[in-house]
Amino acid sequence: MSKAYPWRAIAITGASSGLGRALAEEAAAAGVTLHLSGRDAARLAAAAAACRARGAEVRETVLDVTNAIATAAWIRGAGRLDLVIANAGISGGTGGATEPAGQVQAIFATNVGGVLNTALPAIECMSAQPPGAGGIRGRVAVVASLAAFVAAPGAPAYCASKSAVQRWAEALDATERARGIRLHAVCPGYVRTPMTARNSFPMPFLMDADEAARRTLRGLAAGRLRVAYPLPLYWMARLAGALPPAWRNALFTRLPAKDVTQPGA
Ligand code: NAI
Repeated sequence: MSKAYPWRAIAITGASSGLGRALAEEAAAAGVTLHLSGRDAARLAAAAAACRARGAEVRETVLDVTNAIATAAWIRGAGRLDLVIANAGISGGTGGATEPAGQVQAIFATNVGGVLNTALPAIECMSAQPPGAGGIRGRVAVVASLAAFVAAPGAPAYCASKSAVQRWAEALDATERARGIRLHAVCPGYVRTPMTARNSFPMPFLMDADEAARRTLRGLAAGRLRVAYPLPLYWMARLAGALPPAWRNALFTRLPAKDVTQPGA
């Protein structure tokens, strides 16, 4: 088992790149089984090899989280899971114009639908697992974003999708913890990954994916319901989110918008 983290069996979606891969590598250790899924077989194999090199047992599955049946089968087939991280996500903005309808649909299907496709069967399976240390049967972490706290006009669907899963996880934890299942909302600021490599605007407090992975897993291990970082950007997001909406829109429309990134979605 990992010296740093208390989990023996962990499932991660979108594990073939960026934050997902960094989370897998950070959690990888002798005695840990990692169930990694992603859409790209070659990139997933590379992530799995890096985790095996750290001593973990790795089972890889090529999977699209918008496929509810395949995602549930993957979770149900994994055996006991101590931690499930619904990380897979896509981003996209308006580019300063109308956000394409296909992009809006794809963002909600992946960032909300894909998270539910992962988390709901995980909760169902965990409810049948015997409790472990501290009476916890399992933990489900959804990767939201600090974007959850700001309805930014440059990325309406992305912000709304992240807000949905952050609020869902936080509210659900209140009832699920009574039966030994914990939910967590992970809310990172800007992380250096293929997703943000496309951004042409300044990204304050941009951090490396391995640092984000460490902060995420430490926060989860500490049992924090909301794992939000970095702190200065979190408070800026909370402040911007608290502005009257018309003021916020007036302020944010002066800032550069996220590009359209799913034009063919
Ligand atoms: P990334 O693009 O490197 O990784 C996203 C992963 O999700 C990729 O492996 C991608 O193939 C996978 N994915 C996308 N759609 C999928 C689908 N339908 N089925 C299965 N896998 C799918 O981006 P990054 O930055 O690592 O993003 C990971 C998560 O972190 C996302 O949910 C993102 O919204 C979130 N996030 C990222 C931030 C950043 O600054 N990079 C900040 C806050 C949150």
